[in-house]
Amino acid sequence: MRITYRNANNKDYWTKRWSDIPADAPMENSGVYPLKYAQMTVQDKAGKILEAGCGAGRVLRYYHDRGYDIIGIDFIDVAIGKLKNMDPTLQAEVGDITRLRFADQSFKYVLAFGLYHNLEHGLDQAIQETHRVLEKDGLVCASFRADNIQTQLTDWLADRKNRGSANGKKAFHKMNLTRSEYEQLFTRAGFTIDFVGPVENMPILYKFAAFRSSAHKKFDENKARMEGYRLSWFGQRLQNTLMRFLPDQFCNIYVVIARKG
Ligand SMILES: C[S@@+](CC[C@H](N)C(=O)[O-])C[C@H]1O[C@@H](n2cnc3c(N)ncnc32)[C@H](O)[C@@H]1O
Repeated sequence: MRITYRNANNKDYWTKRWSDIPADAPMENSGVYPLKYAQMTVQDKAGKILEAGCGAGRVLRYYHDRGYDIIGIDFIDVAIGKLKNMDPTLQAEVGDITRLRFADQSFKYVLAFGLYHNLEHGLDQAIQETHRVLEKDGLVCASFRADNIQTQLTDWLADRKNRGSANGKKAFHKMNLTRSEYEQLFTRAGFTIDFVGPVENMPILYKFAAFRSSAHKKFDENKARMEGYRLSWFGQRLQNTLMRFLPDQFCNIYVVIARKG
């Protein structure tokens, strides 16, 4: 386990991030994270879905527009406000994954992409809450920041960029776990792991315009979130090679699909 510290604390980071961009359009590319993994999980259209940590709403809007019964929660009210303005028919509300208002066994699926690693305290409690609100045999699909070379490099680059600001004071930003630490988090709460794998959400190469696809040279966060973080031909070959030989070191997240037994 490794903790990443930055100049802004986690809640301020998300408030600024979601204040800076409009709500997402529904995600388009089902070949990439997170939609690819959501589709591996959600098989029954009649099953109720909770998207915990729905953020700007790319996954929530994808399922809502296709007639699924999905509710999104996030602890950042500006994100929920933007989503409700964009589409008042969405079920979206402010909520905290460590204290859910839902009754036991309310959902068949919980999608929680990039959520749990934001918790400095109450990580086990959040996984237990997830377990509580799932039906028997219900599935959670969740990603977590990997503790590896890629995230260490990302943190080093961020530290260099922010050197000298905020009087050098550091606050909790995110938690990083190894693959086995991540698996244990779910098995401790009573889940059985169906799938766990290293995934590249935003490859470190994407941070450099030279490695991005021509349509992504100018950074547009909503576009990248909708289409996936697309690399140039060369950048993708390089990333594929790193992922082929050292997947646990060059992924940036682990995705788990776990079942409530
Ligand atoms: C990486 S973003 C993912 C957004 C969305 N799931 C997606 O994949 O596009 C993680 C989200 O978790 C939210 N979050 C962090 N801590 C939370 C908490 N304790 N309860 C609910 N949401 C939280 C953040 O505000 C942020 O929107």
